Amino acid sequence: MKPQAPRFDAFDADACREIAQDLANHEGPLLPILHALQDRFGYIDQAALPVIADVLNLSRAEVHGVVTFYHDFRSRPPGRHVVKICRAEACQALGAQKLFDEVAAASAENGAVTVEAVYCLGNCALSPAALIDGDLHGRLDTTRTLDLVAGR
Ligand code: FES
Repeated sequence: MKPQAPRFDAFDADACREIAQDLANHEGPLLPILHALQDRFGYIDQAALPVIADVLNLSRAEVHGVVTFYHDFRSRPPGRHVVKICRAEACQALGAQKLFDEVAAASAENGAVTVEAVYCLGNCALSPAALIDGDLHGRLDTTRTLDLVAGR
């Protein structure tokens, strides 16, 4: 059986507030809250920022600054498939830039695939590497990557 692509709930401000309140008492709660929101909704909706700011007694600008600082946080919902291509040194040396550009170009038209950069997946011996819907793959080229996405 094929693994399912990740599915996310539609953004909901009440659920966002619940998540933020549940994690508010953790040490350094902002990042865990943002990760929990992205796990639930697939991205950080702009409407989440004032909710988080209110719960944590921060300014909206402070929350916005953290969201935009980390590459991991998306500002819009991802496509049905998420391809995270490693852009760190070993993968770059074996064509990751070309792979990234070609997969992004091939995926740009339908919006079903979100292509993102990551920096080392610990799979350097099998460069270039990528996570396709959370599954690690190595020795990728554009054709194989697109075939793996299409097979999901
Ligand atoms: S550099 Fe790409 S997996 Fe390590």
